Order: sequence, then structure tokens, then C-alpha cells
Amino acid sequence: MHKQITKAVFPVAGLGTRFLPVTKASPKEMLPIVDKPLIQYAVEEAMAAGITEMIFVTGRNKRAIEDHFDKAYELEAELAARDKQALLSALRGIKPDSVQCFYVRQAEALGLGHAVLCAERLIGDEPFAVLLADDLLDADVPVLRQMTELHAHYGSSIIGVEPIRPEQSRSYGVVAGKGFGDGLLKLHDIVEKPAPEDAPSDMGVVGRYILTSSIFRHLREMPPGAGGELQLTDGIARLLKQEAVLSYRFDGKRYDCGSKQGYLQATVEFALRHPEVCEEFREYLRHIQVAQGGDSDGEVIGMPGPLPGAQGAPGSSVIYM
Ligand code: G1P
Repeated sequence: MHKQITKAVFPVAGLGTRFLPVTKASPKEMLPIVDKPLIQYAVEEAMAAGITEMIFVTGRNKRAIEDHFDKAYELEAELAARDKQALLSALRGIKPDSVQCFYVRQAEALGLGHAVLCAERLIGDEPFAVLLADDLLDADVPVLRQMTELHAHYGSSIIGVEPIRPEQSRSYGVVAGKGFGDGLLKLHDIVEKPAPEDAPSDMGVVGRYILTSSIFRHLREMPPGAGGELQLTDGIARLLKQEAVLSYRFDGKRYDCGSKQGYLQATVEFALRHPEVCEEFREYLRHIQVAQGGDSDGEVIGMPGPLPGAQGAPGSSVIYM
């Protein structure tokens, strides 16, 4: 058994241009899926994997992330005074006392590899995890936990991957390796965002990595890559020439919340499972499906009436079928 991983890096300095204008003054990592920001899902996944030190590599306009994981005395006092116990414990659960948060500033957007390098001093000489919060992963066993369990067995770096379509290769790191069961490949290549004809396989990297500290030396020594940025993928390409690096086809579903489509899909699917809103929301979806001429389960077909939970909306232009 190899040592338990205790540290995770969250690179959160990105500009979030794909979500402008909402990301002009607020971090994309604070975009909510129902009622929790993306970064909280990632931190919860890390906690479920036994990680106790969360290292955020931040930049300008990212203060909201620090505030989110900080204690909110006034808010807690107010909720306690009003005896809102459930909200209070939800608030306190964001960062249990057993977890520590650290913040490092990445002054310039010099790439994902550079962001990881910014955490070197806080990591030191031990394996660590990297989580990209805009990859939201839903799984019975949290994906990072699946990966730390594999790491405990193999002791090597492990990269999360999933199958991609050829035309998607320009958005992903793409790996190639030799399979040895359980969704694992021993890598002999990894390329950042290749053209489809240059992609070494159909396995794309998702934002979950377990890396040995040897990665830092490669990140420090290598020249900038695609887009003039220090690419984490290039560091891993060097690392796998010196030591075993595995990729792992995780068990679970990924939502690419860095894209509007993925973000909306996650919102709908998580809402359909959220105990507080799921019932009304399911009804609402049936109504709009019917209103748009689609089929439904039958219960609401032909049933005129207001949307569940909707206030009477005089002059509303919605036509119920
Ligand atoms: C980053 C990595 C890429 C990986 C992707 C997963 O790219 O550079 O290798 O496939 O995350 O989300 P980004 O999406 O930040 O451009």
C-alpha cells in the first residue's frame, strides 16, 4: 500500500471567457449547479477521497472562492438566531474543521502546467491530486476516490480519461497506452488538443489527475507549448518517459461545465435529483415538453392549468396544451 494522498490542487485562475458576461466579475468556478457552486462539488469529491489540504491557485476576481470556504460568522449567527438548523449545517459542512484551505496566486494566465507549478512549495515531495472544477463528475463512488484507491495500489501517476469523438480531440489532452484491465492503460503518449488525424487514440483527458512530485521538475524545465502556455499535458508527456503513468477510464458520468451545453445538462439532471425541487421541476419539464409539441408520460397531456409552482401570471404568453 502506498501512502494516502492528502493534498489537492484546484487551478481556479482561468478567465472563464466561454461564460462571459457572467464571469466578468465572478469566478466561473462559482457558477451554481442548483444550489452549490462547481468548486464545492470538486472539493466535496476531494474530501470523499480523504484529502484534507485544499490548495487553490487563484487569480484576480476570485475572492468569492476564498469567501465561500471561509467561516461566515454573521450569517451563521443569523441562521442560529432563527433556528434554521438545516441551513446552518449545510453552511458548516462546506469546510469541516478537519479540512484546511490554502491560496496561491497565479499572477499571469500562463497555462495549466504553470498553475500546478505555483503549488509546488505547498506540495513538497509527495503525490497529489489536481481537480479541474468545470469537469463535474457524478458517480456512485466519487471519481477521485476511485483514483486514490488505484494509486494506493500502483503508486504511480494516474490520469482520468473517457472516450471522445474524433471531432472533439482539439478540446482535450489525448492519451495512448497499453491496456491491462480495469479501465487502465500504461501510457506511452499524451498530446494536448491534437487535430483528429493526429490524435493517438479516442481517450480524452478529463480534469482529474494524481501526479507524483517529479512532475514539478518537468514543468520547471520544459518550454511553453500550445498557445504559448505551459501545458500540464506536456509535463506528463515528459514524466511518462521516466516513470509509469497510467490512465483510468473512470466509472461515472462527466458534465463539461466549461461549456454552456454541459452546464445546462448538469443543471437539469441534478435538479431532477435534488430532494427539494425534483418533483415540481419534473412536472415543469413535462409541461414545457407538451407545450412544445413533444410527448410526455401522459399525466399532464391535455391538462390545461398553470405550471406547477408558478404564480398566476396575468398576460403570460405561455400556451398550455
Ligand atoms: C484542460 C487540459 C486538457 C484536458 C481538459 C479536460 O484543457 O489542458 O488536456 O483534456 O482540461 O477538461 P482546458 O479545458 O482547460 O482547455
